[in-house]
Amino acid sequence: MIADSDYFVVEAKAGDFLNEVFPIRQDLYLEIGSGKGEFISRYPAHHLDWNFIGMEKSPKRIRNCLKKLSQEANPNVRLVCQYADASIVNYFRKESLSGVFIQHPDPWPKRRHHRRRLIQQDFLSALAEVLKPKARIQISTDHKEYAAWIVEQFLQNPHYLSLQDDPMQVLPNLDEHIVTWFEQEQSRLGYHPHFMLYERI
Ligand SMILES: C[S@@+](CC[C@H](N)C(=O)[O-])C[C@H]1O[C@@H](n2cnc3c(N)ncnc32)[C@H](O)[C@@H]1O
Repeated sequence: MIADSDYFVVEAKAGDFLNEVFPIRQDLYLEIGSGKGEFISRYPAHHLDWNFIGMEKSPKRIRNCLKKLSQEANPNVRLVCQYADASIVNYFRKESLSGVFIQHPDPWPKRRHHRRRLIQQDFLSALAEVLKPKARIQISTDHKEYAAWIVEQFLQNPHYLSLQDDPMQVLPNLDEHIVTWFEQEQSRLGYHPHFMLYERI
């Protein structure tokens, strides 16, 4: 049998679209910052008619994810060790992603580090290029100030609308929500997530 690392981990090369790495063509979803792999190992197992890429910058975290994945349960998952930013347009075909999940992106709380935050205008505009119209972006963060920043960044960008009247309210499909390791740890400390849901116009 093929080793898990060879089966699941794919390389991101500009021009070689990640859309092509699955043996079966079906709707493609992206998770950014897969961490220890709770979401990417569990959610896709309930959606075997969709494909999922887990994009994670840290090789250590990719190894954590591999421990949770199995070729039997997760044939529709691939991992890519890649820093997500505006270069995302190089890795996916235009209007090819059906949705994106981002759970607890690094908040970079210090003002001088805000430019390192994932959610900002150049990234949102690049992401809009690879999303299908009506694709959904689901984000959670327990960091109140980053949540307000995220709401503001989406508000400023012409390609998205909030699917929630209150952009920080609880998700409508919370029954499908996967509680990640990070979320569990933070909740124990009293920090509970805000959930945001946007649609590509
Ligand atoms: C706070 S952890 C949350 C992990 C996981 N989503 C969870 O909820 O437990 C943030 C994760 O995102 C990864 N990460 C941060 N910035 C990233 C980026 N720009 N592209 C890809 N991964 C990133 C980090 O390596 C880390 O695994």
